[in-house]
Amino acid sequence: MAVLSLKYLPDPILRKKARPVAKVDQVIGTLINDMFDTMREAGGVGLAANQVGELLRIAVIEIPEEPPLVLVNPEVTRRVGRREVEEGCLSVPGYSGIVNRSIKTKVKALDADGVPFRITAEGLLSQALEHEIDHLNGVLFIDHLVEPGELIPVSASEEMED
Ligand code: NI
Repeated sequence: MAVLSLKYLPDPILRKKARPVAKVDQVIGTLINDMFDTMREAGGVGLAANQVGELLRIAVIEIPEEPPLVLVNPEVTRRVGRREVEEGCLSVPGYSGIVNRSIKTKVKALDADGVPFRITAEGLLSQALEHEIDHLNGVLFIDHLVEPGELIPVSASEEMED
């Protein structure tokens, strides 16, 4: 169990595409646990491996009052609809923005034991899935701003970060 150091914009690792995990072994399991520690310490609802300096396709999500979600090699298989929603990111501290996201998302991935699963999500979970899978492709929420370049400064107490 360890809190890892977060990577912040403009760290180039945030713009790199992460590579697939070949085998979900103990090393990957430790990284997943450390990612949860890091995300919880930072007060986020999601974290991708790029954000802790590992170019591996792993993301964790933990939305209040929902079970924690581990995604290894996740892929969005379907996006339905479009909505505008406010979003932030632990790697872009101090700012949020209004972004375009899907209304509903379907994702397939491996879990922490390497077992394939599929999930259909709406609301905050759908948003978090799109956000974290974007990270694994080097994409940040600032790439989806409804008004390009328009970021909203937020006070630390109000921050809602993915
Ligand atoms: Ni993020």
